[in-house]
Amino acid sequence: MQNLKAVITGVGVYVPDYILTNEELSRMVDTTDEWIMTRIGIKERHILRETGKGSSDMGVEAVKQLLRKTNTKPEEIELLICATVTPDMQFPATANIICDKMGIKNAFSYDINAGCSGFLYSLSTGVKFIETGKYKKVIIVGTERMSSIVDYTDRAVCPIFGDGAGAIMLEPTTENIGIIDEILISDGAGRVHLHQKAGGSLKPASFETVAAKEHFIYQEGQPVFKWAIVKMAEVSINIMERNNITAKDLAWFVPHQANLRIIEATANRMNLNKSQVMINIQKYGNTTSATLPLCLEEWEPQLKKGDNVILSTFGAGFTWGAIYLKWGYNTKS
Ligand code: UT7
Repeated sequence: MQNLKAVITGVGVYVPDYILTNEELSRMVDTTDEWIMTRIGIKERHILRETGKGSSDMGVEAVKQLLRKTNTKPEEIELLICATVTPDMQFPATANIICDKMGIKNAFSYDINAGCSGFLYSLSTGVKFIETGKYKKVIIVGTERMSSIVDYTDRAVCPIFGDGAGAIMLEPTTENIGIIDEILISDGAGRVHLHQKAGGSLKPASFETVAAKEHFIYQEGQPVFKWAIVKMAEVSINIMERNNITAKDLAWFVPHQANLRIIEATANRMNLNKSQVMINIQKYGNTTSATLPLCLEEWEPQLKKGDNVILSTFGAGFTWGAIYLKWGYNTKS
């Protein structure tokens, strides 16, 4: 049997129209554009404001664009994995809802919750299905309505997050392209620093939990910040070393977009130039599972077949990791 690899063959994205600027945020909480730009590096983020819409609706738009760009029919899809921490509802899976809304009828689908590493973990899972040779078209979606769990009176959290979605297609290849290596790690002890206190089986929703604002993101920023820099750099350097890639061999580093200072510190530890690093945090904020595809889509015209690319994330769990791939296609201009 030939050595099958999984390769990304297309990217689609969606962000809602409404833009929440630092200027508007500074009228909602005691903050300033200068503080947010200096400490986090975010200028604006997109917010899904319509009632009756959820993460699935943004995921659907990203998948629509993906199918259009890759000239694929919904019935050709065999598996759809959705990474999200803001599912439409506790169950069924948002992936099932996306498939239903998209007319994806010949597939099975499920969600993965791995915090801000959700897209990376889902990509890893989808790759394994392709590598068996049994599956030919797998979609990975990352979609988040983070604004549904952000407390817009909490100035330490509300500037960080935004809403958005991205989707990629995975297909098999025997060429020397596609996903080559991965390092994925999690440590549940990190949950004390970043979690949602109520709404799960441990503490079901009640009048008290709502009154105590326990359905919003709880975050201790500083420990998360420190762990993120150390762990993202560690796995990214490890994956480069064990694949004999030096900084100059790397075309692109695609880091999770949580804080510009985390991105810069990680890139410095990896000895990268800023020109090798995809950064669009200023426009979207931290969209959790959607940050990586939002980067890949924006840089798609510049990505060349065979480019060495490293994706890296850190998030709630804690979860972190890095995936090394060779980009699969050139975009026709
Ligand atoms: O993907 C994983 C998700 N999360 C992350 O990656 C987040 C990681 N952590 C961070 O990005 C940073 O820790 C934050 C951006 C959350 C906070 O930045 P920081 O430099 O760690 O600030 P801090 O929490 O140490 O707060 C410094 C000061 C405090 O005031 P005092 O105690 O020094 O008087 C805060 O009350 O800044 C204050 N502060 C603010 N001031 C203006 C906190 N938030 C704000 C704000 N505007 N929005």
